[in-house]
Amino acid sequence: MTQFFTEEHSAETVNARMGDNVNPRLKQVMASLVRHVHAFIKDVHLTQDEWDLAIDFFTRTGQICSEERQEYILLSDVLGISMLVDAINNRRPVGATENTVFGPFHVAGAPIRQMGENICLDGKGEACLFEGRVIDLHGNPIEGAHVDVWSDNADGFYDVQQPGIQPKWNNRGIFVTGKDGKYCFVGIKPVSYPIPDDGPVGKMLGHLGRHPYRPAHMHFLVTAPGFQKLVTHTFVGDDHYVTSDAVFGVKRTLVAPFEKIEGGETDWHSPFDFVLTPIADVLRMLTPSGQTELKEKKTQCRC
Ligand code: BEZ
Ligand code: FE
Repeated sequence: MTQFFTEEHSAETVNARMGDNVNPRLKQVMASLVRHVHAFIKDVHLTQDEWDLAIDFFTRTGQICSEERQEYILLSDVLGISMLVDAINNRRPVGATENTVFGPFHVAGAPIRQMGENICLDGKGEACLFEGRVIDLHGNPIEGAHVDVWSDNADGFYDVQQPGIQPKWNNRGIFVTGKDGKYCFVGIKPVSYPIPDDGPVGKMLGHLGRHPYRPAHMHFLVTAPGFQKLVTHTFVGDDHYVTSDAVFGVKRTLVAPFEKIEGGETDWHSPFDFVLTPIADVLRMLTPSGQTELKEKKTQCRC
């Protein structure tokens, strides 16, 4: 039945060609991929012209990729794949801060700044005081947490998108919590911006009647020994795009207060606590045999 290719048994024929010594996980993933792709092609009755167009799209997507640009990640983002993979791999107990997309604009090695320091180096935008605590699920402060933050500037660009125009490390910094678990810094009230839309993915969004905008957000990467890494943003709730994020990154719990301050040192105040999940709890949620794996992984920290 599976020796020769037929429309009816196409997926089974392809999968039957796999060797005997294939990595079991690779076998599971590839067999499922082939089954689903074949079922999709049959479902929509894909035409030759459509398949040629798809090949051309993937070719152009690859051709525009460079050290600075990753169009495939963008494709994964706008199709909700990044968020789905993130959601499946970051299931957390109730009360823990939720993850969201990392995005392409994080730069490792940002300067460690003093608590309260201003990360906005270009003097543009409305100043906003971001503050809160890094705590565990019981509300205990976490000391030594690294709160790595980054945002666009008031013109809607990250510093790495405008080298030579924006100062290096503009709107970026790392803050290390003390015994009280508190963090605070001054940044700008972020503004919404379009994801890079001058390539094949942007064109695809256009054909689908979709805009390329992300609602205003501040990025946070929070790490602490013994706790699961938290990759998240806080969002400005009254942003025009908050319910139509081009990459589906908004979660209800991540919409933060942005309070207007009259006559203060900053124009805005955004309080937000980050609740981290102990690594032990993460492993328990991942597998029924989490307990066994836990013993092996107990020594890990900042993972
Ligand atoms: C960002 O928020 O920086 C981002 C996320 C996904 C795609 C493009 C940008
Ligand atoms: Fe962003």
